[in-house]
Amino acid sequence: MSASSRPADITSTPEWAALAAHHREVEPLHLRELFDSDPDRVEAFTATAADLVLDHSKHRITRDTLPLLFALAERAGIPDRVTAMFRGDHINTSEDRAVLHTALRQPRDASLTVDGQDVVTDVHEVLDRMGAFADSVRSGTWTGHTGERIRAVVNIGIGGSDLGPVMAYEALKAYSDRDLTVRFVSNIDPTDLAETVRDLDPASTLFIVSSKTFTTLETLTNARNARDWLLAGLGDDSAVAKHFAAVSTNAEKVREFGIDEANMFGFWDWVGGRYSVDSAIGLSLMVAVGPDRFGEFLAGMHAMDEHFRTAPPERNVPLIAGLLNVWYANFFGVQTHAVLPYSQYLHRLPAYLQQLTMESNGKSVQQTGVPVTTTTGEIWWGEPGTNGQHAFYQLLHQGTRLVPADFIGFARPAHDLPGEGAADMHDLFSANLFAQTAALAFGKTAEEIAAEGTPADVVAHKVMPGNRPTSTILAPELSPSVLGQLIAFYEHVTFVEGSVWGIDSFDQWGVELGKVMAKQMVPVLSDADPSYDGLDASSVALVKR
Ligand code: F6P
Repeated sequence: MSASSRPADITSTPEWAALAAHHREVEPLHLRELFDSDPDRVEAFTATAADLVLDHSKHRITRDTLPLLFALAERAGIPDRVTAMFRGDHINTSEDRAVLHTALRQPRDASLTVDGQDVVTDVHEVLDRMGAFADSVRSGTWTGHTGERIRAVVNIGIGGSDLGPVMAYEALKAYSDRDLTVRFVSNIDPTDLAETVRDLDPASTLFIVSSKTFTTLETLTNARNARDWLLAGLGDDSAVAKHFAAVSTNAEKVREFGIDEANMFGFWDWVGGRYSVDSAIGLSLMVAVGPDRFGEFLAGMHAMDEHFRTAPPERNVPLIAGLLNVWYANFFGVQTHAVLPYSQYLHRLPAYLQQLTMESNGKSVQQTGVPVTTTTGEIWWGEPGTNGQHAFYQLLHQGTRLVPADFIGFARPAHDLPGEGAADMHDLFSANLFAQTAALAFGKTAEEIAAEGTPADVVAHKVMPGNRPTSTILAPELSPSVLGQLIAFYEHVTFVEGSVWGIDSFDQWGVELGKVMAKQMVPVLSDADPSYDGLDASSVALVKR
């Protein structure tokens, strides 16, 4: 089916109607019954992609559900859209751009010609330059203005130019060069920059200004202030060349800022900000972990891309996960989706996924410009386990809302704490993950609680309803490759959901108005005798206060 033959209203299709009818049958069923009635359920509902295993047996589905969802995917034109995306068609229609983050992780010997240009060659040219730069900083060959080696690298960026690198750096800390301090500044709140540089020495600090557009207010303001801080310490404009690098698609603006073009690393308009951690935007990560590890990270992403592109629906892990999210969002009417990594290293993953999923799928018009006909874009949120268990899991277990959740765990820890105690600790950690998903699925009945001798008036409070759906995503360990697989997995999950809804998951017009209005408001705040023309009454009152 071609993209143009996609129905104008996906909810009026027979496939949607079949799922609505199926939902009426499945909704009253409890996971306890579903497990009891199907002894092979776990085997049937476990799929693997590269090193990731997805156990989706604890979802409120029967053997009929996924085939119905696959039929919906077909009806929404997903197979053709996958081909179109990987081929470089302009599937970002509102910006008339290709969507080719998958090209960023193609191996060197691949080729992909888009608009007459082999983009894989371009990608590897930049990767080679990044590698040489990262090696020179890591080895100390790259020296600062006074001849000192670089000991601190500060990435300045926001949104996709921050969240990807900081999340991945935190995730792969165990693989990083511990002699380098690597930090990230994003907020225009001046305290962010102040706290980041307060104990750093300008002579040994390198700033990487990361901005696709190089026009983003927060990033340029932070970069200018970082330059002032540097020059206050080193006192000479010529120091900028040794202490500033830039990552951008906008060479002209980088030049205007005063950063040497030799220290600029480019990428392309077909890489969306929230899909850019594997482009030159990942330079701070590459400096931290080295080009080889960065290469493994890219290879992991590519492995997931190949799986998504080629695996049949019944084994296609991102397709299954994306369609399950549609199942809950559109048929059960859930509002939110929790992501609960059982890895402290992944503590920034929920924030990263918030941008990836919500900036992509928080849309209310279809690509054709007409309003969507069903809800889109769940609210994504989360925290690492076990911390979340002692905070919000109460609502997950006994609240009135249904919150589907992804539990992410690793067989082996990625730290080197010595002794048997550390190994036991990891078992304890993993036991918590498995216990939580079991408790959420199967709960505990009033009879079971009463049988434990619980006073009659307390029994109702202790009932665990269960029937709360979760995915468990397991991998051997949090290696660079596995992190790459995990990120690409979620990119494709996001793509699947957006494709069912018929929206453009690759633009973000909704964030523009606030940016424009903030710029208009700056003079009002800084002027002693401002004109309030054009401002609404509430804003005028707030500014006056
Ligand atoms: O405000 C949204 C946004 O455009 C994101 O999509 C992007 O990741 C972020 O701003 C930063 O943009 P840039 O990399 O151009 O500075």
